[in-house]
Amino acid sequence: MSATHEWWQRGVIYQIYPRSFQDSNGDGVGDLRGVRDRLDYIKWLGVDAIWISPIYPSPMADFGYDISNYIDIDPIFGTLVEFDELLAETHRRGLKLILDFVPNHTSDQHPWFQASRSSRDNPKHDWYIWKDPAPDGGPPNNWLSNFGGKAWTLDERTGQYYYHAFLKQQPDLNWRNPEVKEAMLDVLRFWLDRGVDGFRVDVIWHIVKDEEFRDNPLNPEYGPGQPPHHEVLATYSTDRPEVHDIIARMRGVFDAYGERMMVGEIYLPVERLVTYYGAHGSGVHLPFNFQLINLPWNARTIERAVENYEAALPPYGWPNWVLGNHDQPRIASRVGSAQARVAAMLLLTLRGTPTMYFGDEIGMHNVPIPPHLVQDPFEKNAPGLGLGRDPQRTPMQWSSEVNAGFSRAQPWLPLADDYARVNVETQRDDPQSMLTLYRRLLALRRSEPALEIGQYRPIPAEGDILAYLRSRKDRQFLMVVNLGGHECAYQAEMPIVHGRIALSTHLDRQGEEVQGSVKLRPDEGVIIERGESHLV
Ligand code: NOJ
Repeated sequence: MSATHEWWQRGVIYQIYPRSFQDSNGDGVGDLRGVRDRLDYIKWLGVDAIWISPIYPSPMADFGYDISNYIDIDPIFGTLVEFDELLAETHRRGLKLILDFVPNHTSDQHPWFQASRSSRDNPKHDWYIWKDPAPDGGPPNNWLSNFGGKAWTLDERTGQYYYHAFLKQQPDLNWRNPEVKEAMLDVLRFWLDRGVDGFRVDVIWHIVKDEEFRDNPLNPEYGPGQPPHHEVLATYSTDRPEVHDIIARMRGVFDAYGERMMVGEIYLPVERLVTYYGAHGSGVHLPFNFQLINLPWNARTIERAVENYEAALPPYGWPNWVLGNHDQPRIASRVGSAQARVAAMLLLTLRGTPTMYFGDEIGMHNVPIPPHLVQDPFEKNAPGLGLGRDPQRTPMQWSSEVNAGFSRAQPWLPLADDYARVNVETQRDDPQSMLTLYRRLLALRRSEPALEIGQYRPIPAEGDILAYLRSRKDRQFLMVVNLGGHECAYQAEMPIVHGRIALSTHLDRQGEEVQGSVKLRPDEGVIIERGESHLV
């Protein structure tokens, strides 16, 4: 191990959506004991850290992202004792554990909000964002909820509106209030004291709003079929300059513990995204980089994006890459099963910390959810637009047994109809399965500092091909990946295609010598270990 890099720079993060990973008590919903039972799998897979989406007490209006107590565990997931056991078992295996921190909003059932709404004089009234109605009695401004409808709800008792960027059951905290700040920093300390290694911070770019609550500008590009909240641009409701002071306060808490990390959920263009590293690195350790999720799957577009991202990073900014999460369509559905293998190679060989989404390692795809089984409030509020997130939250497919080995009971969301074929058990010993590909990529990455922390250098390519080098000291790897469905040959102008194939996404070319050019089959990517005499 090199002392020059932290664990969260070298390592790979694996996201667990806890409701869907493993049920241990037969209620159809995953839980902490279930995660614990699967730690050996996670270790065997070869990742370094797990991030678990919220597990705190919650009415589950937004499946845990509406928290009614920040410092306990929801009974559906287990107990604090079980959490401590999970943490100890995670650490015993040399893995790290990252929790989800949701600072922007609480549940409307949180005692803080109950107090806040009880009267205008309550000492906690100002802990949330309250405004008098507009002169016509309507909401104070035109801000929209991310889940559809207005972002303001009138509360009869106080006669005021409260602001909620998401559901009305998720009122936004007022981070301009110093008591809120202290209370929330204490939440971080509570978990860091218990030994948690880091936090993924929910919608961190949302937490401070415009002091004057100005109307958001209308979005000139808004059209039918788009999410309803895109009708306005979130200019005044998100990404305000003051957010960075607050993140710096959070960062101060992390720094006091050492070796802990914070990864921020931020959906912003790259030039705004990188400001979240903070002045001189006083911001989040990693601002999630969602470009592989948001961009069209096109070699030239991605090539440019990688280059722009690398160029935009401040000297102290460590990059990161993501293919999917519980809010986004699964990669195998977005680009197809064959390209999902190429995507895996990109994720694990581009420069920066990769975050994997559970189930992607076996090629799970979106599961269509019949209307009567819909759970996600987004789909319920804005039906039929394809915005619902249930399809990517279906249970992990462990085996071909009943309920895919996820639960003895009927799972809370339906299973994929192909689970008898697409599951961990059938793939683990299959030398060409997606799971084997992920394991091999992870193992190669772990054994080669050039791939973990080495420099990145783009190599000119055309058409569907993307090519780049990763180097460290005297080790060099050339990635050549075909983002299209046609066979093609790659030949670089510079004498660079020389060496031995370390890995092909098809898992059948290891050791093949390449001299001057390399042929790629449709949807194939290769990692070429460059011979010493040809290093550049
Ligand atoms: C982002 C989370 O990832 C998403 O699942 C949630 O609905 C919103 N934030 C609101 O907390």
